[in-house]
Amino acid sequence: MRSRKLGAVLLLMSLTGVAGVLATGDEAIPEKALSAGSFTVARIDASALSEPAPALSYAQRERFLRGRHHFNHRWVQFPSLGGDWGLGPTFITNKCVNCHVGAGRGRPPVSANEQPLSLLVRLSVPGAGPHEAPLPHPHYGDQVQNAGLMGQDRDDTFLGDRVPPEAEVFIDWQTTTVAFEDGEQVELREPRLRWGRLWFGPVGDTTMTSLRVAQPIHGLGLLEAVPDADIAAIAAHQRTIGFNGRVNRVRDDIAKREALGRFGWKANQPSLAQQIAAAYASDLGVTSTLYPEMNCPPVQVDCAAQPPGNQPELIDSDWQEITFWEQALAVPARRNVTDPRFDRGERLFAEAQCAVCHVPELVTAREVPHLPIAANQKVRAFTDLLLHDMGDALADGRPDFQAGPRDWRTPPLWALGLSQTVSGSTAMLHDGRARNATEAILWHGGEARASREFFRRLPKADRDALLFFLDSI
Ligand code: HEC
Ligand code: HEC
Repeated sequence: MRSRKLGAVLLLMSLTGVAGVLATGDEAIPEKALSAGSFTVARIDASALSEPAPALSYAQRERFLRGRHHFNHRWVQFPSLGGDWGLGPTFITNKCVNCHVGAGRGRPPVSANEQPLSLLVRLSVPGAGPHEAPLPHPHYGDQVQNAGLMGQDRDDTFLGDRVPPEAEVFIDWQTTTVAFEDGEQVELREPRLRWGRLWFGPVGDTTMTSLRVAQPIHGLGLLEAVPDADIAAIAAHQRTIGFNGRVNRVRDDIAKREALGRFGWKANQPSLAQQIAAAYASDLGVTSTLYPEMNCPPVQVDCAAQPPGNQPELIDSDWQEITFWEQALAVPARRNVTDPRFDRGERLFAEAQCAVCHVPELVTAREVPHLPIAANQKVRAFTDLLLHDMGDALADGRPDFQAGPRDWRTPPLWALGLSQTVSGSTAMLHDGRARNATEAILWHGGEARASREFFRRLPKADRDALLFFLDSI
């Protein structure tokens, strides 16, 4: 009865486009449709990933809105108007939301001469940096900034002193075809990085690069609240059934110690606060108390000569507010839970052993001091937060702390089916090569090879049921 009510409501919302009317409270959402316990919302339109957890208090909701403002807010160069001062000197774009549209996923460039925006390039040279971090390239650092304060930022009218971008980056695609056992063929594409103008000389033959597309960022406050011990226990269990999930051990720059990595495609970030400060530093060129240095390797003299917009450019209270916003982002309800294909797909998901890595349910800690409503929640994110060897075809060849060249963190699958609606992109896998879930599964190798082969051998009706399930969760 209750589930029929939700079905009718969702149907009405999608027919009329009036979404979010019933987005508060989870009373109307049946248990089977809950994706994130009390963090579940009914909204399924373009704002589906941008809702606050319904249980936030009035004061917390205000804080959430201030955090949202920072996420959508534009950074500019001093003394331009219309934004906070501190963009650059080198950067990729001027707001978080440009890459995470609607808090959703990014996309690789469409044409051969388009500069990537929500697909970034990490780079490093052989050897290890401080605390076993990747060793940054001496001229380009650990991430390419393909914009500099010389007019690329078209909303920014003040051109002042000129700082070149570090490099131009282009993506070419190589395609191959694979066939299901029943003969149906699928074209797969793989990106090849092509450097355009390199302002500070060749990158060198031994430089390792890694393409990373922007991830969807809803519900991460709950994933941050899953106890370390539970994640380690999943890894130990996997070992007994022939899988090899491993935690990444990374540097916690805030607590100044080693910590379990959870965020990013290689789980190289231990906390949302740090992930966000790193994004300010590397993606926007904005300094913070955590990363106070301007991002200007020694050869980049015009970069280093720029006056900062403020010291630091990101003030601590804004950093705390955007971190709170990120932690309190809700998750849309699962859809179609009464359709028989949902159960059939779920069964196949288990049989194919997808569920070994894409773990259907985690539970958050009994106490979450910074956000008590996040405690004790069932998190149906479909991740184990562990690294897996995904085979040579997906390898970037670039280690990241304990993550090896073929290792990737299992990405959450919740709200996968809303990707197109939210940000207009269904690009999946770390470099966005997969255009849909079918392609993503067909790229699985290494530890997930048997799962892929199981999928490849399924009759069409079963494949469709599995895809229907993925689209609904
Ligand atoms: C230039 C595009 C770009 C911008 C701008 C950007 N991000 Fe990201 N974001 C990414 C990419 C790419 C990743 C994955 C990074 C990796 O795997 O190394 C990511 C990862 C994340 C994650 C972790 C997601 C997960 O599942 O682990 C969070 C949280 C996040 N970004 C928040 C932000 C916030 C907040 C801002 C603004 C301060 C921001 N991002 C700005 C591209 C961007
Ligand atoms: C051994 C662990 C493992 C198994 C088993 C596994 N996956 Fe994955 N899955 C991953 C990892 C790791 C990635 C990310 C790979 C990358 O980014 O290159 C991934 C990515 C995905 C993605 C893309 C998600 C996104 O946001 O980019 C989908 C969809 C997916 N898996 C579905 C499945 C399905 C369906 C099955 C079963 C047929 C399955 N996976 C089996 C580990 C696994």
